[in-house]
Amino acid sequence: MKMRLETSILPAGQAGAQAAARILAAGGLVAFPTETVYGLGADAANATAIAHLYAAKGRPAFNPLIAHVADLAAARRIGRFDARALKLAEAFWPGPLTLVVPKTDDCPVADLATAGLDTVAIRIPAHPVAEAILRAFGGAVVAPSANISGHVSPTLAAHVESDLAGRIDLIVDGGPVAVGVESTIVGCFEAPLLLRPGGLSRERIEAVLGAALARPPVEAGSDDSQPLAPGMLASHYAPRAAVRLDAREVAPGEALLAFGSARLPGLDAASVVMNLSPAGDLDEAAANLFGYLRALDAKRPRAIAVMTIPEDDLGEAINDRLRRAAVAR
Ligand code: TXA
Ligand code: MG
Repeated sequence: MKMRLETSILPAGQAGAQAAARILAAGGLVAFPTETVYGLGADAANATAIAHLYAAKGRPAFNPLIAHVADLAAARRIGRFDARALKLAEAFWPGPLTLVVPKTDDCPVADLATAGLDTVAIRIPAHPVAEAILRAFGGAVVAPSANISGHVSPTLAAHVESDLAGRIDLIVDGGPVAVGVESTIVGCFEAPLLLRPGGLSRERIEAVLGAALARPPVEAGSDDSQPLAPGMLASHYAPRAAVRLDAREVAPGEALLAFGSARLPGLDAASVVMNLSPAGDLDEAAANLFGYLRALDAKRPRAIAVMTIPEDDLGEAINDRLRRAAVAR
């Protein structure tokens, strides 16, 4: 970034939403809470603003963005919804689901935001602050997670501030988010694909579809290939410390990220212990995941040992993020 910006922080509320809308309309960058994670918003129709957004995050421009809108009518101006896409939208919007659908002929989303694809990712967030900003602004807002590319996604305004202060215009503080992992992404192709597990469980989507969701045929592995299921970049969500999965014991000096009952050999030698959910509740674990990873990482442990987390419900998204965090960089 050439210039250091003065980043304002405003509490959520009427004034915050108005300021956010004004800055978006002027081509600026605004971080705001959604129910999943904090997003970094730009006017979806403004290619210059979107170029600034990629630069502020240090994000590769071939990794496309999600367009956020306030209602289904706005979504249908951007993307073409077949019967199945409509069924998912009606069942789960507003909510932690992103649908990838073909663009409309006069799609207002700038090509830079869709990385030249003829599809577009769309979602209606279920958060009063996000909704107020979208309504005050009036157009679609592209918003990746409001973190430096490759870092853990932000679940608090303070996380946004530590990554992006000086690089964006405004942070609207709406307190901690409820879900804690990013939206589930479903590609509405001939066969619907689960492009990214997330805050809406596979089970709930499959129940509405009446069919199983396939995973994409190839797991895109590297940062420089055009990802089929972008966001599947290998070193995503990575803390500085090494992450060791399925820990059955703790080595001296390791931090422990626990789940459920945390009685492991070596526990006393752990440098720090945080439990995602002592009761073994996966929703609670998802909400705590990114904040706890940041907090443990800040203690500079030798490594972060992570206990086994079941793969059902939000466990699929939690394990997806943890596996990415564990990829050595
Ligand atoms: O919960 C969320 O989805 C958050 C909040 C802020 O809404 N946003 C978020 O955005 O996670 P981001 O940019 O971190 O992740 C967006 C994902 C990326 O993996 C991107 O590759 C994928 O959506 N994506 C966007 N457009 C796509 C498309 N046309 N086809 C396939 N994947 C797409
Ligand atoms: Mg992200």
